[in-house]
Amino acid sequence: MLTADWEAPLEAAPRRLFLPEVMWPSVEGERVVVSRADDPEEWQRWAETDVPIVTQWDDGDHTGPERGTLASSSSSMPSLVFDMFTELSVVDGAKVLEIGTGTGWCAALLSARLGADNVVSIEVDTTVAESARRALAAAGWNPEVVTGDGLLGWPERAPYDRVLVTAAVQQVPRAWIEQTRPGGVIVLPWGTGYGRQNAVVRLVVGDDGTASGHFSHPTWFMHIRSQRSARVRQSDYIPGDTWPDDTRRSDTGVPAAEVLDESGGTAFGFVAGLLVPECVYTYGRSPQGTLAMWLYGLADRSWAAVFFDEENPSGSRVYQGGPRSLWDEVEVAHRWWAEQGRPGHEEFGLTVTADGRQEVWLGEPGALVPQAVPAIW
Ligand SMILES: C[S@@+](CC[C@H](N)C(=O)[O-])C[C@H]1O[C@@H](n2cnc3c(N)ncnc32)[C@H](O)[C@@H]1O
Repeated sequence: MLTADWEAPLEAAPRRLFLPEVMWPSVEGERVVVSRADDPEEWQRWAETDVPIVTQWDDGDHTGPERGTLASSSSSMPSLVFDMFTELSVVDGAKVLEIGTGTGWCAALLSARLGADNVVSIEVDTTVAESARRALAAAGWNPEVVTGDGLLGWPERAPYDRVLVTAAVQQVPRAWIEQTRPGGVIVLPWGTGYGRQNAVVRLVVGDDGTASGHFSHPTWFMHIRSQRSARVRQSDYIPGDTWPDDTRRSDTGVPAAEVLDESGGTAFGFVAGLLVPECVYTYGRSPQGTLAMWLYGLADRSWAAVFFDEENPSGSRVYQGGPRSLWDEVEVAHRWWAEQGRPGHEEFGLTVTADGRQEVWLGEPGALVPQAVPAIW
């Protein structure tokens, strides 16, 4: 939400000044291509719409108007940007480090709010960093834009009062905590890599080298390059056209709406990522229209497939193979989440300890979420 203190910065640094000639706005999961040269009005309309806009595919390896495989840079959704600014709770004169410059729009807004001398932004992609610098200069803002790995922070200008991370991580690097002064705030999207969903967490840095705080809402941020979810191929798990001989078949009553991202983001995927470690999932509809979920083990070749019966949820079919029964583990995680009263993201929190361990808790620090399905369950 846009709060009063961000209205003037938004006027001084409108998003359209930071968008490329060709871009891919995201509408209901689909991406349309928009070219300013071909249709300036359409381009302008999207620039003013509250949607995320992809600006680079496949780390720049893909060119041309077709969409690529993996969105690797974007202009985040404006309402989300302002929500994250609210969580960051900047005060006049605060020194801010941004990780993931992207188009440069956030760096421009921060510069307009705090003065460009108080803003440093790091971007890993040389081409993206260069065009952000150009767009910032053309718009009249000159914050320091560093080309490099944001996981290392930027010790040259530390300590920072605030750190804003606009790409998701699975592991919070110690550098961000060490470079933030005690009492300072780090806002970042955090996820386990199990599914595409992550959630914004607001960490307050303590005197003792820890950082801790609550999650707020779910997001679908792209990941920091070196912390992307593992990509798997189904054929590595199920080589032929038929189920392997050791396939175990069963039924489940767990509803698709509670375990899949498309449900609008329950926190279950978040919980499953902790209780079912070393696992990724995908989902989609078969040509016949059946909603299916696939789970793949990362430490071995365990797999599971669930074909949801949306008319009769207790009759969904499950197939599993390999040393782990991944769907059974998901069911246990689901039972745990249901027993806790189906908590939302905002009821969870994260503590990063002084030695770098990550503890996810429910309700209050110390009430830890189990990090794997306990053997006795
Ligand atoms: C969602 S975009 C950032 C949006 C941006 N804040 C804006 O205002 O347009 C995420 C960016 O993080 C960058 N990124 C990924 N890994 C990174 C890393 N290790 N260090 C710095 N930037 C990284 C990507 O190249 C991408 O440009």
